[in-house]
Amino acid sequence: MSETSTSASHAIASLAISHLTEPKAAQLLSERFNLPIDLQHSADMTLGWHWVKKDPIPKLALFYQDSGPVFIDFGSGKKAHRRHFGGGKGQPLVRAMGKLKEGLPTVLDATAGMGGDSFVIASQGFKVQMIERSVAVAALLEDGLKRVQDSLRCLSDKESDPELLGIIMNMSLLQADATDYLLSQKPVVDVIYMDPMYPEKKKNAATKKEMKALQNLVGPDRDSENLLQAALQTASYRVVVKRPKSAPILQLNNPRLTPSAEISSPNTRYDIYSIKALKASGLL
Ligand SMILES: C[S@@+](CC[C@H](N)C(=O)[O-])C[C@H]1O[C@@H](n2cnc3c(N)ncnc32)[C@H](O)[C@@H]1O
Repeated sequence: MSETSTSASHAIASLAISHLTEPKAAQLLSERFNLPIDLQHSADMTLGWHWVKKDPIPKLALFYQDSGPVFIDFGSGKKAHRRHFGGGKGQPLVRAMGKLKEGLPTVLDATAGMGGDSFVIASQGFKVQMIERSVAVAALLEDGLKRVQDSLRCLSDKESDPELLGIIMNMSLLQADATDYLLSQKPVVDVIYMDPMYPEKKKNAATKKEMKALQNLVGPDRDSENLLQAALQTASYRVVVKRPKSAPILQLNNPRLTPSAEISSPNTRYDIYSIKALKASGLL
């Protein structure tokens, strides 16, 4: 059985929900995201609940092969480290979002994934609408957001983190294919950000656990050009595409539709398509 989502047809591993520790929650999740329960214990990957000692709230996690659980935790690990030490507004990702006279632009992250980039952007005060088409990834993301909200109820004032809650309140999530969503809903938004999965040339031992899970679950995104085209028709200010530093730009039908600017960091490039500039040159 493959992951069941209308457009996420690139899934390369079978996925089901483990009902062993939390049967009621498993049933609810199965209905909510239309995912099967792993009755035969035959799925390559399972979504299940990971309990950590002293933590009153279990984490929804992805389990596969002999890897440890993959879950989203906005309050600790890499995300917390980047929040505290990542460089704030000076980070290339944040600078790529730009500025408007009226204030911070609104952002739609069309490829939300594990929410890392959205979290960085939201931590700088931007309102971010996240879209993720993989039901499994959207389920992990929804659980990560909800746990921060629940922590206010479960944890003492000393342990809870109101600043973190403030960041999470800047983020909202929709499980959908972003191309379909942009074309059908025509949302009003200043910046559309996209970070499609880039095909791995060779197996890289250093690829992080989260990224490996994504590669197994959703595979490379082969339709990013369609998403970019839809984003260019929708954003009012700019579209930002994250690419590995040496990767070519995304090719569109019109080869003259190229980025207006780029911001680079050691391994990454942010290609910026300015809507005003593209309109001025008659390309949009
Ligand atoms: C490389 S990951 C994004 C990682 C993310 N920037 C982060 O910080 O965690 C790409 C994600 O985009 C999602 N995706 C790709 N194309 C999409 C589309 N058209 N609509 C919605 N999600 C999409 C994939 O399912 C995958 O989870």
